[in-house]
Amino acid sequence: MEHETPNYGDYQLEVYLRGLTGVREDLPFTFAELEARAHATLPPDIVSYVAGGAGNEYTQNANVTAFDRWGVIPRMLVGAARRDLSINLFGMALPTPLLLAPIGVIGLCAQDGHGDLATARAAATSGVPMIASTLTVDPLEEVAAQFGETPGFFQLYNPKDRAVAESFVSRAEAAGFKGIVVTLDTLQLGWRPRDLKLGNFPQLKGHCLANYFSDPVFRTKLAKPPEEDVRAAALVWASELSDPTLNWNDLAWLRSLTKLPLLLKGICHPEDAKRAIDGGIDGIYCSNHGGRQANGGIPAIDLLPTVVEAAGGAPVVFDSGVRGGEHIVKALALGASAVAIGRPYAYGLALGGEDGIVHVLRSLLAEADLLMAIDGYPTIADLNPDALHARA
Ligand SMILES: Cc1cc2nc3c(=O)[nH]c(=O)nc-3n(C[C@H](O)[C@H](O)[C@H](O)COP(=O)(O)O)c2cc1C
Repeated sequence: MEHETPNYGDYQLEVYLRGLTGVREDLPFTFAELEARAHATLPPDIVSYVAGGAGNEYTQNANVTAFDRWGVIPRMLVGAARRDLSINLFGMALPTPLLLAPIGVIGLCAQDGHGDLATARAAATSGVPMIASTLTVDPLEEVAAQFGETPGFFQLYNPKDRAVAESFVSRAEAAGFKGIVVTLDTLQLGWRPRDLKLGNFPQLKGHCLANYFSDPVFRTKLAKPPEEDVRAAALVWASELSDPTLNWNDLAWLRSLTKLPLLLKGICHPEDAKRAIDGGIDGIYCSNHGGRQANGGIPAIDLLPTVVEAAGGAPVVFDSGVRGGEHIVKALALGASAVAIGRPYAYGLALGGEDGIVHVLRSLLAEADLLMAIDGYPTIADLNPDALHARA
């Protein structure tokens, strides 16, 4: 039977055929070039915020290099002419195993300052769902309006005032989001030397706070509307951003926020994964926030297998350090149900807007797909720990 899904590797043929007509792709094919060119394009304070990590950035860098410990074992003559990279996540049929990780300043990475909308349009074009951050330039309703047929997720930073959290989630439900991701690793902001050096925190300037400033419950906390005094409104936001006392006793309340699939982001320990699932959470999001929060030293990919085991079959989304197709393949083989892309798409957006994001996603998918073709793993189900060899 013919697969419905395309071979994503065919993107290279498209590029080579265009090359025959003298047209070269302007956007980069490696993360190194993507990063260098985006850094040259973006304003310094945005580069600092996007590229910077916690402490000396050891964890952030190790997130990427840790993938090198694993090698994919080539298998021959298995019949991998056609591949199927589609997945089913919470009953949603998705054409690829990728998601767009929530990125709080993605709005500012676009040349027109509306990167949330561009990301949502890229999600519509590519079929790769966007997990929209709480911290957007445009309100969540306007972001969701761009999703087309692609489902979207809303990421919640849980504010101090539960009424604001409840308002955000009910707005997300009304806007048509299909799942909620609550981020747990940012109850406090991590120590980020690059931003500290510039004295730079974009949200304190009033950026990316549209969800708050458009929220009827949040607005009751303001002496003056943000349209009149954005600085004062941003300070109220800073004091309300996150409830640092959130703990496992609040799990039932978190669960009660929505009937939509609910994921907890930042889970890296098997006991935490089990506790979440036992408490009625639908999915685990294994991530160390790309090493931006705690510089503890353990790459997220090293923690993924035990988290997957503890999740007991519940979906596990993974991110942190994914830079190429091989990383996607390895994360899937180590048990991830879906893999979220972070910085690479922010840089694609900076260079080429919506098309830049689509190019980055197509390139990542092409590289993953061709690796699966060449090494003989035609479907995601074929990717399991036996497909990998751990080098000493
Ligand atoms: C600039 C930037 C902003 C981010 N903002 C958020 C956010 O608003 N909410 C969230 O849950 N995670 C946020 N993250 C973390 C990402 O969702 C993801 O975990 C991380 O980017 C993965 O690491 P990587 O980009 O190095 O692969 C942010 C990451 C970056 C780089």
